Amino acid sequence: MKQRLLFLGPPGAGKGTQAERLAASCGLLHLSTGDLLRAEVAAGTDLGREAEAVMARGELVSDGLVLAIVRSRLEGHSGGWLLDGFPRNLVQAEALNTLLEDLDQQIELVVLMELDDDLLIQRLLGRGRADDNEAVIRHRLEVYRQQTEPLISYYRQRQLLEAIEASGSVEAIAERILVLVG
Ligand code: AP5
Ligand code: MG
Repeated sequence: MKQRLLFLGPPGAGKGTQAERLAASCGLLHLSTGDLLRAEVAAGTDLGREAEAVMARGELVSDGLVLAIVRSRLEGHSGGWLLDGFPRNLVQAEALNTLLEDLDQQIELVVLMELDDDLLIQRLLGRGRADDNEAVIRHRLEVYRQQTEPLISYYRQRQLLEAIEASGSVEAIAERILVLVG
């Protein structure tokens, strides 16, 4: 079974939903940079204050800030992990490679979750997080297309990427992912 995983996909694809399930059933550390940033915002830390407005606009928080969060959690963790919503651009992907070289670890699988825009928007409007209004959702999708989608060919070239259709029930999607994880 693969132990070092990335979940990639547009906002609303279900990365968090599936990552939480898989991490719990396989004993992996689930790192969602979005969740970690929201926790900083809720706690009113300096980091949270810096991130809050950027997140409300649906833009990406600075690479340095996000990298520090991920590094602090992967260092000193010896078991498997599942990164959800990170990396988000090529700079973060390269920085992750460097960090993993230092830790003598390797990514084993990148799961790309694909879903039509109308379904993504429908799901997010139904959820109602602070950044889930239609204008910000559309901007997050644009940011995804411009900054995150280049990671698809990046990881495909490295023969790490497997895509799944992220429609249907949570259980059906979980099954598709389990087949890839082995
Ligand atoms: P982040 O928290 O990562 O949000 P996102 O990418 O916009 O994705 P979501 O969390 O909205 O969607 P998801 O794919 O996890 O879907 P979910 O399972 O929740 O990022 C938020 C912000 O933080 C960014 O905009 C940025 O500012 C900042 N940030 C985060 N990481 C960063 C980074 N690395 N660098 C820089 N900035 C960063 O599901 C969505 C909804 O659909 C839920 O209500 C769920 O219940 C429902 N659902 C799930 N599966 C199904 C299903 N099969 N059928 C029906 N409904 C379903
Ligand atoms: Mg999420």
